[in-house]
Parts: sequence; structure tokens; C-alpha cells
Amino acid sequence: MALRTETLSPGRATVRAGSNIAFIKYWGVADAAINLPLNNSISMTLADAYTTTTVRWCERSALVEDACTIDGRPVSGDAAARTSRHLDRLRAVAGVDWRAEVTSANNFPMASGIASSASGFAALTAAGCAAMGLALSPTEQSALARRGSGSASRSLFGGYVEWEQGHDDASSVAHQLFPAGHWALRDIVVVVSGAAKTVSSEHGHTLAATSPLNAGRIAATTHALAEVRAAIVARDIERLGPVIEADALAMHAVMMTGNPSLLYWQPATLELIHAVRRWRSVDKIPVYFTIDAGPNVHLICEAPAAADLEDRLHDFACVQKIIVSRPGSGPVAVEEGG
Ligand code: DP6
Repeated sequence: MALRTETLSPGRATVRAGSNIAFIKYWGVADAAINLPLNNSISMTLADAYTTTTVRWCERSALVEDACTIDGRPVSGDAAARTSRHLDRLRAVAGVDWRAEVTSANNFPMASGIASSASGFAALTAAGCAAMGLALSPTEQSALARRGSGSASRSLFGGYVEWEQGHDDASSVAHQLFPAGHWALRDIVVVVSGAAKTVSSEHGHTLAATSPLNAGRIAATTHALAEVRAAIVARDIERLGPVIEADALAMHAVMMTGNPSLLYWQPATLELIHAVRRWRSVDKIPVYFTIDAGPNVHLICEAPAAADLEDRLHDFACVQKIIVSRPGSGPVAVEEGG
């Protein structure tokens, strides 16, 4: 990204950004250094699972090092380094050497199976730019956010979003397919384990190519993406559902058959997969599942089905927490004290 020449000043801004749930997943990187994916992905931005981040830029004379707090705790080690690397990207575009004080809070537990890196890096990018008066377009911010966390590129937009694989840093960006109001889908996040994952998705992406099934999954995404786009256009859950289940299963098959093998599922994961399929075939409820890099299960349904499904989920001993989210907007500025 070219160096910007507008007049910048070290200020402060707060931005709230939603996480997102992928219908066609990002799994595997063509270039790990810039998070260039192996395939396009499509997601829904979440209204009810978000990160609120304040960035305050200071002259180096006032702050020697970046300082970051997440959910009330000062961050150190790898997480602090990852945040500073992202701030470096903003500094490089702006041509400044300021340091930043970053305060970030999630409205959902970090180990809930909702991607805090997606909402976190989207909010950090948008707040970091706003706090210095750096006027980047959402597309430019999407490319920057992608470097922090791939899925964050999609959270720069609201509603239904596609991240184009692209071929370089500037072309690998997301765009909106439809705004949130287009279709009242719900993501029912069913938390069955709050344990931190043993292998991060950052590392997992580099292992995808070791699976003999990876090429098959990637080849299948061309048709799957077209189906998902068409299902969203037509608001057709029965067309959307089977495709998103198939891609989630294909991604987990790739994970399981890589070297080393990654097995994110727990017995409760399988219990819920069977329950969803039973509710669909026996009770005729249009509900489908998807699963990210963890054991928790996301149930995707239309708004009228959500309350009944939530009730049914309360009967499961394995269910620790349920979070229901609507589709949401892209990042929004939050007034100080707001
Ligand atoms: C399974 O975006 O979390 O949720 O770029 O390393 O931060 P990094 O990975 P991340 O990977 C997301 C993986 C996924 C699928 C998806 O959201 O598309």
C-alpha cells in the first residue's frame, strides 16, 4: 500500500467491529507471510459478537513501547507481538513512528468458538486509522486487516461478505454481497468446550497442504461458492445449508488428514451434528451446522426457528453456553464514553 500524504496527528478513536461466521471457509494459505488464501470465502458478519477497541497514538517521547490490554488484562508475549506487528503495518502506511496504547474488549468469551481475531483485527485496523486521521477506504482497510488475521478482512464489511482470494496484497480483499437486512439468518453458537485450542489456526493454515484431501476441497469451492452466492440472493436456506455443511466437513477432513493431524472435535461436537441432522429429517426444522477450528458448533437457521432450537439445546448436558447472533454491520465508530 502506498505511503499516505494527508496530514496526520496522533489522536484517539474507538471502534466496534463484529466477528463473522464463514459459510465457505478460509483454510490454507498460498502465502503465509501476507495471509494470501487458497480460496475465496463467504461469511456473515455478526451483530451480537463483537470487539470494541480504543487506539491512542502517542509521540515516541511520550510512550516508548506499544501497550495493549485485552478484556482488562495487559497483554504480553506472542499476542503483544502480533498486535505490534499490526500497528507496524499502520505506521508503515502512514509513515509515522508513533507508539499506541490499545484497549480492547470482547462481548463474548475468547474461547467460545467465535473468532476474536476476526473482530479484533478489524476493530484494531479501523480504530488505528481513525485515531490518526488516516483516510483509508474499507477495501484498503480489509487488505490491512487480512495481514493481522485472514478472517478479519471480512469483518470490515457488514452483512454477507465475500473475501476474494486475490493474487497479491492489494487484490486479496473482501467486499459486501448483501447488507445485513437482506436476510434474517441466525448463528446459534453452541459452546461445548471453553478450552483453548492446542493448535492455532495461524499454524493450521500452513498444514492444509499436507493433506491429500486439500486439493479436492479447494477444487470443490468453486461450485460451492456459486451455490452459496445463489442461495443468499434467493434467501434459500435449503440451498445454503447442505453446501455449508459439506465445506465445514471437508475442512475438518483436511485438518484430520494433514501431517500432523489436527482433530478439533470432541464427542459433544458429534452429538450436536447428529442432533441437527435428526431435527432436520425427523422434525423438519431447516437448520444446518458449521464448525470452525475448534469443537464448538454453529447452528445456522432463519430467525423464526431460533427460539425452538435454543430450547432444544438446553436439554443437552454437553452444552455450556449458547450465544445467538443476528447479521450485523461493518465497523462503527463509538463515541467516547459510549
Ligand atoms: C476455520 O482468520 O483465524 O475460522 O489468519 O491465522 O488469524 P489467521 O486465521 P483465521 O482463520 C480462520 C479459520 C476458520 C475459517 C474462516 O473463518 O474462514
